[in-house]
Amino acid sequence: MAQTESVSGPSTDHVEWERKPKSIDANLRDYETAYKNFSWKDVEREFDWSHTGKVNLVHEAVDRHAASWRKNKVALYYTDYDKRDEKFTFQDLKIQTSRAAHALKSLGVKKGDRIGVFLPRIPELYIVILGIHRLGAIPVPLFEAFMQQAVQDRLGNSEANVCITTPALKSRIPLAELPALKKLLLVGASDGLAPNESSYESLTAKAPDWLEPEWLTVDDGLVIHYTSGSTGKSKGALHRQYAMIGHYQTAKWALDLRDDDIYWCTADPGWVTGTSYGIYGPWTLGVSSVVIGGRFDPERWYQTIQRYQVTMWYSAPTAFRMLMSAGEAVPAKYNLKSLRHICSVGEPLNPEALRWVKKITGLAPHETWWMTETGMHIICNYRSLDFKVGCTGKSFPGTYASVVDDAGKEVPPGQLGHLVVKPGWPAMMKEIWNNKPKFDEYFRIPGWYSSGDTAYKDADGYIWYQGRGDDVIKTAGERVGPFEVESALVAHPAVAEAGVIGKPDAVRGQIIKAFIALRKGHQPSDELKKEIADFVKKHLAAHAAPREIDFVEKIPKTRSGKIMRRVLRAMDLGEPVGDVSTMEE
Ligand code: WTA
Repeated sequence: MAQTESVSGPSTDHVEWERKPKSIDANLRDYETAYKNFSWKDVEREFDWSHTGKVNLVHEAVDRHAASWRKNKVALYYTDYDKRDEKFTFQDLKIQTSRAAHALKSLGVKKGDRIGVFLPRIPELYIVILGIHRLGAIPVPLFEAFMQQAVQDRLGNSEANVCITTPALKSRIPLAELPALKKLLLVGASDGLAPNESSYESLTAKAPDWLEPEWLTVDDGLVIHYTSGSTGKSKGALHRQYAMIGHYQTAKWALDLRDDDIYWCTADPGWVTGTSYGIYGPWTLGVSSVVIGGRFDPERWYQTIQRYQVTMWYSAPTAFRMLMSAGEAVPAKYNLKSLRHICSVGEPLNPEALRWVKKITGLAPHETWWMTETGMHIICNYRSLDFKVGCTGKSFPGTYASVVDDAGKEVPPGQLGHLVVKPGWPAMMKEIWNNKPKFDEYFRIPGWYSSGDTAYKDADGYIWYQGRGDDVIKTAGERVGPFEVESALVAHPAVAEAGVIGKPDAVRGQIIKAFIALRKGHQPSDELKKEIADFVKKHLAAHAAPREIDFVEKIPKTRSGKIMRRVLRAMDLGEPVGDVSTMEE
């Protein structure tokens, strides 16, 4: 494979350092010493379950705080800048998540069941996920922008038997195609419930204020997040309860969260960042979180920092670049001085975006590298550790990431290779739901978990992410599989064949570009491009729709029918592609 050839990464002799004052008051003060002495056993001791043997995330994230001095501390500040403006203490969360659990229990939900959560970013989204944990069931969060096909694939594969949703979103749940899905719990339904539907408000209004958590083992399921690979439909990464110790420790040392923080994670719990670091990390630490509903809007975002006096902000490069393109006059209107630390995730943070955030806030965003499958941060830049602008960082204590060749041998500094992690960190996925072969693919390089990314390590031990080694697309930080998009495209009556790639983009990192061969009788036109893109938006998800379409005669394929995306990428760059019939399988 190309990525393990002996290609050197760019020289880092002239890189710009982000230096840290020696006196910095970070939770993790001395990375190197902590790395040497670290033991996950020490972290376990900070959880009640290590003394009681009774495991449940909701106890550690909610109930134990409600029984402590944090009882009346705000856990969740919520606004949608329109209809709702609310706050919930840990005690409120204990009551609300107990009521949600009673409601779900009355629908028959029990330990181990997979429960779809298809809600917009409203407080109930957070309450319901924790309510599901209270019953020992497994939430399957679905991003609110998913359309029918995406919803069907995920609920179908996980065989969810109940889904919590809203009257507006329920039309995207094709019940006829989902034999396991028996009941819908609707948030905000006024009347006219079908026999298989219940009202969240009516069931929770009658429910008692307390339900003891279902006690589990550390190996029991926590959450399933669906994510995309380069082939096939999306796959469900199942995490175990034990992952919570990883969320907790990384939130403490990489996000540097403290009791007096007001923390804002901008990610939606439909994606892993929104659960690992929107729910599990901050709340096992007992930290106050801010959540805002509605769409991205630069004014609102700065307003949120000012309004809640946000101290720690966790966001993504595309968001920083979008703020950047809104200009400097917008942040100048707001007071952002409350901020003390910023982290970034999901895609590489380009130095321009880093410098811009630093200019408007005085703080450089710190990268965190991880994946749905890793469940928690693996490679980070730390608040107390000098780092190089543009680099991804160093392995989190208790984990070991490296760069290897095809045989699993670590390559010398500067040499490009596979970015891998030594298996065994606490939040490593337990399985790919119902798909052992897919799970095994991650361990194809003996002794390592393969991320699918390429990287190199420099002489100082810093890891530099270089790109994906496969065809997975990262658009605006969201992970999209080309196969899912191609399948949606070929369902359009005018499309005979389709091939999809990620095309580099200054703001979104990548955009989705589709090459399409039309069926006989259809003529290429701009209207048809728009119609096809809208078709994907309507059936799959807006973020998965191609932003660029090229009509071609034929999609280049191998003899066995595999789309040659490498050739599509060359075509996109206008490079000669030669005789594709001689391409290797
Ligand atoms: C990419 C998101 C560069 C990477 C938590 C990885 C990054 C994929 C970074 C996982 C980073 C994540 N720098 N690339 N700091 N963080 N990635 O599953 O390609 O949505 O494999 O998890 O995002 O995406 P996922």
